[in-house]
Amino acid sequence: TGVITIDPGYKNSGSCTSEITFLDGEEGILRYRGYSIEDLAEKASFLEVSYLLIFGELPTAAQLEDFENNIRKHSLVNEEMKNIIDGFPKTAHPMGVLSALTSALTAFNPKAVNVDNEKEMYEAICKTMAKFLVIATWTYRKSMGYPLNYYDNTKGYVESFMQLMFKLPTGPYAANPVIVNALDKLFILHADHEQNCSTSTVRMVGSSHAGLFASVSAGVSALWGPLHGGANQAVLEMLEEINKDGGDTDKFLAKAKDKNDSFRLMGFGHRVYKNFDPRAKIIKKAATEVLETLGVEDPILDIARKLEKAALEDEYFKSRNLYPNVDFYSGIIYRALGIPTDMFTVMFAIGRLPGWIAQWKEMRENKEPIGRPRQIYTGHPLREFKSNK
Ligand code: CMC
Repeated sequence: TGVITIDPGYKNSGSCTSEITFLDGEEGILRYRGYSIEDLAEKASFLEVSYLLIFGELPTAAQLEDFENNIRKHSLVNEEMKNIIDGFPKTAHPMGVLSALTSALTAFNPKAVNVDNEKEMYEAICKTMAKFLVIATWTYRKSMGYPLNYYDNTKGYVESFMQLMFKLPTGPYAANPVIVNALDKLFILHADHEQNCSTSTVRMVGSSHAGLFASVSAGVSALWGPLHGGANQAVLEMLEEINKDGGDTDKFLAKAKDKNDSFRLMGFGHRVYKNFDPRAKIIKKAATEVLETLGVEDPILDIARKLEKAALEDEYFKSRNLYPNVDFYSGIIYRALGIPTDMFTVMFAIGRLPGWIAQWKEMRENKEPIGRPRQIYTGHPLREFKSNK
């Protein structure tokens, strides 16, 4: 009953109230639980930020230690999961494998979490943080045909990620602290972004009281698309194409402006940010620093800078408020860190996981009703059945 308004893409519709992330698109402000993204990226660790997003306050030293230890406790993944990985071809996209494996975790953890029980929720959250990280890296090991690694319980979360990805079957492994630092920052910048496509999906799926793994798995699928998280892979492929083509950025700019051409400048534009994306600013600086520190010279970075400058001076982009977004420079860092292009969106997923968990938890704790939008029917009126056979 009542008037139904149609708002495709939910451009002007809110789906919930939330205390997690504040975003002001006009001013380019992003805050997690009241803390500025600039401060958090500079001063906090990814696990600290994860705790903040999920539980609402920064952890004390003891709380952080407990959180880390509990994640470690849950870091073993059932050996039978390997049979499922074995069933995929090596060429499968890591995001498809990640979504399937996350869903498969429900088979090994079938008990529904009692969201009213704080301890059960805490265990489920730590379990998700641990196992998701491990299987995310397994998608890479699978694509390379390498043996699967296990979480290193003597290391921190991000360092453990590095060894899960890159450790050889024998010998010691020490992650480069410059890389660990850069990744920590990238994960923080991706950790939450209020009601974006994947997060809304997680809340929507969870609103039917489906479990956390099932909801997160749906989030992974939503994130995969090139208009959302998949943009980071698409950006790098675009920059590589421009490079191969001789570096003519103007040609690609013209294509992006041509309304008869479906090509879009990947890494540009945002549904909410209409002045600049504060995350892009931090990442641009980090990209330059990481490449300098690691001594990597990458022509792709020059093309990115040239393209950004040209677009920012172009009337088409200016009049539509199209600015570089978080994905424009992240791929350049991932590339310098030795992470293959088709793993970029998986990196985004690892970073976004605490945001998904926090939003799922909030949605359940607020006892939100099942998500069920209405529609306006535009099909046939009643028709008499006459077979077309
Ligand atoms: N290149 C060329 N034109 C663009 C672009 C672009 N990247 N983005 C938007 N436009 C144009 C669009 O054609 C439209 O023009 P007109 O008014 O003449 O029809 C106008 O700008 C408004 O665009 P829109 O598609 O209505 O805006 P939206 O809010 O629905 O879409 C977006 C936002 C992010 C999907 C879009 O800007 C886009 O496709 N960007 C490229 C993909 C990308 O980088 N995505 C990552 C987003 S940030 C990270 C994340 O959320 O995962």
